[in-house]
Amino acid sequence: MVKIVRLEPIAQETAIETNGNLLSILIKKDLDVLKECGGRGMCATCHVYVKKVWMHYLP
Ligand code: FES
Repeated sequence: MVKIVRLEPIAQETAIETNGNLLSILIKKDLDVLKECGGRGMCATCHVYVKKVWMHYLP
């Protein structure tokens, strides 16, 4: 299943497979995402904020 993710404040949308890796998609699309360690989980600079109303969609 594919979900559409809206990226704010850049107002872009991208599709991602359920259980896919959002950071990989963002890097592949050459979007300007702060990622000091390249997504290896060592720096905590790649944050995703989920609004409270969407929390029930999270695994
Ligand atoms: S880029 Fe995500 S933890 Fe470093």
